[in-house]
Amino acid sequence: MNSSDALVLFGATGDLAHKMIFPALYALAKRGDLDVPVIGVASPTWSLAQLRNRAKDSIKRSVGIDNQRALHHLMSLLNYVSGDYKDPGTFTKIKETLGRARRPAHYLAIPPSLFETVIKGLGAAHLAEHGRVVVEKPFGRDLASARELNHVAQAVFPEDSIFRIDHYLGKEAIMNILYFRFANSFLEPIWNRNYVASVQVTLSEDFGVEDRGAFYETAGCLRDVIQNHLFQVIALLAMEPPADRDFGAVHNEKAKVFEAMRPLKSDDLVRGQYAGYRKEPDVAKHSDVETFCALRLFIDSWRWEGVPWYLRSGKYLPATATEVVVELKPPPQRLFADSAPMTGRTNYLRFQISPNSAIALAARVKRAGKEFVGDQRELYLVDEQPGEEPPYERLLGDAMAGDGALFTRENAVEAAWAVVDPVLKTHHRVRPYNRHTWGPKEASAIIAADGCWHNPRPNDAPGR
Ligand code: BG6
Repeated sequence: MNSSDALVLFGATGDLAHKMIFPALYALAKRGDLDVPVIGVASPTWSLAQLRNRAKDSIKRSVGIDNQRALHHLMSLLNYVSGDYKDPGTFTKIKETLGRARRPAHYLAIPPSLFETVIKGLGAAHLAEHGRVVVEKPFGRDLASARELNHVAQAVFPEDSIFRIDHYLGKEAIMNILYFRFANSFLEPIWNRNYVASVQVTLSEDFGVEDRGAFYETAGCLRDVIQNHLFQVIALLAMEPPADRDFGAVHNEKAKVFEAMRPLKSDDLVRGQYAGYRKEPDVAKHSDVETFCALRLFIDSWRWEGVPWYLRSGKYLPATATEVVVELKPPPQRLFADSAPMTGRTNYLRFQISPNSAIALAARVKRAGKEFVGDQRELYLVDEQPGEEPPYERLLGDAMAGDGALFTRENAVEAAWAVVDPVLKTHHRVRPYNRHTWGPKEASAIIAADGCWHNPRPNDAPGR
């Protein structure tokens, strides 16, 4: 695998570059892992000095500048090309600026509506040969547009040169799901429909759409985080063991999970909208876009037949945290009055993904005394570890090195869209909910057959 010898950053003056990419480049520079030209491309007619100031500001605000040498090095690598993406002249300028670089990585930090224009421009200017393209989610907005986008991208770049970023795959706690499942043997005998009662995943955020109203109006919660981030988490939890560590084998097993998911029907989900969403900037007065979504889905496979998977995400919920709870069935015999509590849970595994990464195993233990009654305790298997690499830093480095392990593939993306496609347009209207509550009350009905939602608490770890 050849490393990229330049990075071309489309959308260099935009939000994503400011929030994520410049800080990631700075981190790579600090580690000594950035030694190629970085060419920012965007439409504003900025000078290079302006782009440098923007990059410095981004680093200052996100992580702070603590290494002047690395900053200076990054600034010396930076260049700027201004131009319209529809104009072939822009790509000619990029080519000139690339000089002797032959294997550029093109990062599309631009609105999805421009992906096709830029990819075609790269192809026409012969900037794709030996190059790579890195695209940000969303990959399409439904099955048909995802297919079209894949088609356009593959007409210009071979599939193994297309890096689709879902930043959840670069999170340490999510990588640990794969490791934890297949580096241990005690899990496998119980990791199936015979022992698992249900699985639930919640991604909750205690803030609204902020300045992203225009984007959110085209997306909604289902497209924004469920079809991608939460589905990726489910794929890692549900996949069969890959034949080997080769990332192609992992990709294949994950794609099979999406293929086995039963397409959703409108009664499988509850859509909600927080109070005041319609007054947010760039949001339609009568918007029916969901800022909350709770759903139940099934994976029709030998291992998971009949096990319900509950997914929930929303803006303006009471906490910012992402958590998975795999609930095990209660013991078959009720030897003790409290061994299968009528309410509450018996045994479960809890994977906290953010804000802290942790895995906890819940079991009941006897309380001291004559009575055979006990309490549920959580055994912590892993807690926050120092030195975790933030997702963008890892993914940017991997894409430039040509390592595709933590990226998604065409077939998986399309299979995931096929699951949600039936409910993108055919669905019940959004239900209102008050800010800082756990969404509309109808969300409880979705899970009622299996108990209730587990509401993550951000500081749910011993000693916190
Ligand atoms: C992004 C979504 O992909 O993921 C945002 O567009 C969401 O709406 C974010 O807030 C959540 O990511 P994280 O890493 O903060 O949990």
